[in-house]
Amino acid sequence: MKKIIALILIALFLGFVMLAYAQKKEEMKMADPAKELAKSIENGKKLFNDKSLGAGKMTCNSCHMEGGTKDGKMGDMVIPAFDDLASKYPKYFMMAKRVMTLDQVNNWCIVNPMKGKALKWDDQKLTDLTAYVASVKVVKKEEEKKK
Ligand code: HEC
Repeated sequence: MKKIIALILIALFLGFVMLAYAQKKEEMKMADPAKELAKSIENGKKLFNDKSLGAGKMTCNSCHMEGGTKDGKMGDMVIPAFDDLASKYPKYFMMAKRVMTLDQVNNWCIVNPMKGKALKWDDQKLTDLTAYVASVKVVKKEEEKKK
């Protein structure tokens, strides 16, 4: 009798281990890191047209032209296109007069020029905005350089 109980326990234990292993494998299969990042970048790009981030009609695209891939303007000031910002931040951000991370600059633009409410640091929207902004690399064509 004892042997049978022991065997049942062993079988149950093995079954449990196999189930846990199968589940882990399934979880790992579901998360494709490149796809997840691409999704976040895509969502961030959409947020560049989202008026709800600010208090008025402004969107990120009002100042950072075509998703920040082209130079923008604010009055007489030229706002340079985002170019490989992932490699440049953290850096001293003139307008805030302090060193900032890319997330902080994104929130700074939401709060200051756009008069919106700062996003929480763990808000997926802020992550998506930063993922997008960090993904922009401006390829300058030879002809464009000559102009
Ligand atoms: C009213 C205009 C305006 C709006 C709207 C605006 N920004 Fe900005 N943004 C600026 C200015 C001005 C700078 C500073 C440019 C500089 O220092 O050369 C800047 C800088 C930045 C930078 C750093 C660029 C660099 O080259 O270092 C990022 C990133 C950025 N903004 C993201 C955003 C995001 C995201 C939004 C929307 C939530 C947004 N901005 C909305 C005006 C704006």
